[in-house]
Amino acid sequence: MPTDNDPILVTCGLPYANGPAHIGHLRTYVPADIFVRALRRMGHDVLFICGSDAHGTPIVVNAESKGMSPRELVEFYHKHFEDVFRSINVRFDYFGCTDDPSNHHRTQEIVRALMDRGHVYPREIELAYCPRCERFLPDRYVEGICPYCGVPARGDECDQGCGRHLEPGEIKEAVCKICGSRAEYRKQTHYFFRLSAFRDFLLDYLQRLGGTASARNYALEWVRQELKDWCITRNMSWGVKFPGSEDLVVYVWVDAPIGYISFTEEWCRSHDVPWERYWRGKSRIIHFIGGDIIYHHCIFWPAMLEGAGYTLPSDVVASGMLKIDDKKFSKSRGYVVWVKDDYIDQGLEPDYLRYYLASYTSHTKEVNFSWKILQEKVNTELVGAFGNFLNRAITFAVKNFDGKVPEGELDPEVMKRIERSVDEVSSSLMEYEFKRASDAVLSLADYANTYFQSHEPWKLIRSDRRAAGSVLRNCLQMAKAMIILMEPFMPSKMAVAWSQLGMDSLDNIQFRDAAQPIPEGQALGTPKILFSRMEDSTVKKLEEIFRERIRRAEGAEEKVEEKPMISFDQFKALDLRAGTVLEAERIKGSDKLLRLIVDIGERRQIVAGIAKMYSPDELVGRQVVVVANLEPVKIFGVESRGMLLAADINGNAVLLRPDREVPPGSGIR
Ligand code: 2FM
Ligand code: ZN
Repeated sequence: MPTDNDPILVTCGLPYANGPAHIGHLRTYVPADIFVRALRRMGHDVLFICGSDAHGTPIVVNAESKGMSPRELVEFYHKHFEDVFRSINVRFDYFGCTDDPSNHHRTQEIVRALMDRGHVYPREIELAYCPRCERFLPDRYVEGICPYCGVPARGDECDQGCGRHLEPGEIKEAVCKICGSRAEYRKQTHYFFRLSAFRDFLLDYLQRLGGTASARNYALEWVRQELKDWCITRNMSWGVKFPGSEDLVVYVWVDAPIGYISFTEEWCRSHDVPWERYWRGKSRIIHFIGGDIIYHHCIFWPAMLEGAGYTLPSDVVASGMLKIDDKKFSKSRGYVVWVKDDYIDQGLEPDYLRYYLASYTSHTKEVNFSWKILQEKVNTELVGAFGNFLNRAITFAVKNFDGKVPEGELDPEVMKRIERSVDEVSSSLMEYEFKRASDAVLSLADYANTYFQSHEPWKLIRSDRRAAGSVLRNCLQMAKAMIILMEPFMPSKMAVAWSQLGMDSLDNIQFRDAAQPIPEGQALGTPKILFSRMEDSTVKKLEEIFRERIRRAEGAEEKVEEKPMISFDQFKALDLRAGTVLEAERIKGSDKLLRLIVDIGERRQIVAGIAKMYSPDELVGRQVVVVANLEPVKIFGVESRGMLLAADINGNAVLLRPDREVPPGSGIR
C-alpha cells in the first residue's frame, strides 16, 4: 500500500474529442483541480494529467457527417478542451491525446503483455455485416434490438431500454446505420480479455479501493453478479492497431485509460523522471471520473493493469451527475450549458463557476445548476460574506494605519480558530468532501465578520489606537488564512486578494502558513472590491439564451430527425419532376389515400396519403413535385409509381408546388 510520502498521480477521465465542453464535464475536472492544488499546499508531490480521448466509433461517425477526417475533428476539440481548461483555471501538468504515438506504443505493449500472459485469447464470433457497404459494423455503425429487453438499441449499448453494455455480435435484427440495409451475421475472429478470471482479484482489490464509496460499492455489486469476458477488438481503421492484425483496432476503452500511463510517460520524458516511478512502483494513483464510467475504471482497468503488471489505482473518485434547472442534462433537448459560449464568452468569472460546482453539495450527489442559484451564491456567500470581510479589513487598515499591517497582539482564540479551519479544510479535502471544505472557509469568514463587528474598531480607534491595531492585525491574519484556504477553489480571485494583503507570491505557500503571523508593518496593497454582484439584468440575459436553446431544441424535435450525409451523386440519382394533377379520387376502404393521375411528361398513377388534408376536387389542375423513379409499390391493391413531395407537419402532409406554373415534366434540380 502506498504511504504518505509516495508520489501521487491524479488523473481525470479523458474527454472525448467529439464535441464542446459543457459544465457537466466540469463536475469532474474542477474538483480534481481543487484537490491537486490542495495536495500541493499540504506538501505532497503530485502530478496531474489528462488528455483527449480520440478513438471510438462516435468520433468516426461524427467526423464523417461533418466532412472531416477523424484526426481533424480530434485536433479541433483537443484544442477546444485545452482552451476551456485554461480559461477555467484547471491546470494539468500534461494534457495528451490518445492518438499520440506514445499511446499507440504503450497500448500495444500492454496488449502484448496480456496476450503473453494468457489473458487475451481469440474467439470466432458472429458479427453484423453490411452486404451493401461490404463491411463489418462496429458499435455505433449498427442499430437493432437489445437481446435483453427487446427495445431498439445501439450496437454497443441499450441506450433507450435496460442500459446494458452490448458486446459485439449481441445486438439482434441489426441494421446498417450508414445505408439502412438489413445487416447479415458473419463469422469473424476477435480477441477477448479474460475478465472472468479476475473475479477473486477484483473482490479483494475493491474492498481496499479508496475514493468515493459510490465507485467501490457499485463495482463490488457488479463483480458479485457476473463478469463476462470482454471483446477488445473492433473492425475499424481509426484507432490503435491490434498487434499482429491489419484490420482490427483495439476497443477505445482499452487505449483510453492507457492514456493515463502514456501521458505520464510523456511528462516524465520531458522532466527527466522515470515513468515507472508512478506505474511500476509504490505510488498513489487517484482517478477522478464521472459516475457513468465506474465500470470501466473499477473493473476493466484494474484487471488490465493487474494482468499486465502495472501499479493499481489506489482511489477512484466518482462525481454525481449534473442537472440543469432541475431537469436531466440533455444536449438534444437543450438542457446544457456550454462552458465557452454560455459562460466564459459571456464575460463571467471562472472562479464563480468553480466555487458553485464544488460547494453546491457533496461530490457524489447530484448538482443542480441554474443562473439564479449562481447569482444567489455569488451575491450572498462571495460578495456578502467572504468579499465583504476582506474588503472591510484591508480598507480599514489602509485608511487608519498608514497602509500597513498595524502592530498588535495576535489573539490565541483567533489563532486556534484558524488552525481549526486548516484542519477542517485539509481533512475534508482528503476525504473528497469539497463542500465541507469550502463551507469551513466560509464559516471562518462568518467568524471574522462577527469579530470585526463586535470589536467595533471604528470606535476603538478613537479611544485606544493600539487596541484597534490589534483587532485589525487579527482580522488581517484571518484574511490571510481565508485566502490560502480558498485558493484551490478560486485561484484567480485569491491571487488578487493576496496582493491586496501586500504579500508576494502565493506559489509556494502551504496551508499551515495560514497560522504564520502576518508581519507587523507589512505594506498592504490597494484595496479593491474582489467579487462583484451578479445583477438581475445579467441573469435575465443568461436565462434568455438558455430558454431560446430549449425552444429551438423543442422545435427541432418536432421537425426532422438528422439523417446521414449523402453525396451529390446520390442526390442526382433522384428523378424529381414537376407535374400537374389530371385526375384524383378516393381509394375505397381508406380514409387517408387518394389515387391520382399526374402528368409528369407522361401519365403516372400515384397513390398519396393526403386524403385528410386535400379533397380530390381541389387537387385537379394543381401542380405538384414528384419523385418519379421510386420503385413501384401496391398500396391497397392499387399500383403507385411515384411519390408526391410534401412538408410533414406533425404527421400531416402539406404539398410542395413550383413557385409559378411550369410545363409538366420539368426536371427539378
Ligand atoms: O466517458 C468518457 O467521456 C470517456 N472519454 C472517458 C475515458 S476515461 C479513460 F479511461 F480514459
Ligand atoms: Zn451499409
